[in-house]
Amino acid sequence: MLLKPIYQKVYERAKPFLRTRKNLIHTKISLRYALKLLGHGKGDEEVVIPAILLHDIGWKTIPENLHLTAFGPNPSNPKLARIHEVKGAKIAKAILEELHYPPEKVTEICRIIRGHDSRKKAISPSDRIVKDADKLFRYSKKGMAIDEDRFCVRRKIHINFLEDQIEKWFFLPTARRLAREELTQREKEMNWG
Ligand SMILES: [Fe+2]
Repeated sequence: MLLKPIYQKVYERAKPFLRTRKNLIHTKISLRYALKLLGHGKGDEEVVIPAILLHDIGWKTIPENLHLTAFGPNPSNPKLARIHEVKGAKIAKAILEELHYPPEKVTEICRIIRGHDSRKKAISPSDRIVKDADKLFRYSKKGMAIDEDRFCVRRKIHINFLEDQIEKWFFLPTARRLAREELTQREKEMNWG
């Protein structure tokens, strides 16, 4: 995927922090959805792209053996999920400042990262895109396979769960449509065996 040089620089700096929890592939796929959503509505590209590239870098600060206690259907240690947001926002700020990114954009990007999982409301149109793109990953072929493996859940049950979340999770009509299209694809793949 061809990104503008500044976004490529952000991604290069994010990469070492994304090498955990399958976050490299998660970030790439979420970026693809974010670009689609940017093409369909409001949202500031200069906020959305760095925010999606950097949103999960905080996981690197949390020991890998604890990741599965932090998220998923029954997290025993949900505080860790909060820590990944706060630490991620801090590291993102340092990366963006080093790249002399416009300060007002840095502020919004870091606010988005600080609440990307815990804050259920969106603070701006760009935040809506980031939140929806992050969730859409879970409907992608790769994302579903990762979750099913992680949480030992069967495809049919997982599809039903994701279907139920569409109205609750997504802010944008385009994201809901994309989620439904993905699920239709996943169902087809299941029938192909
Ligand atoms: Fe994410």
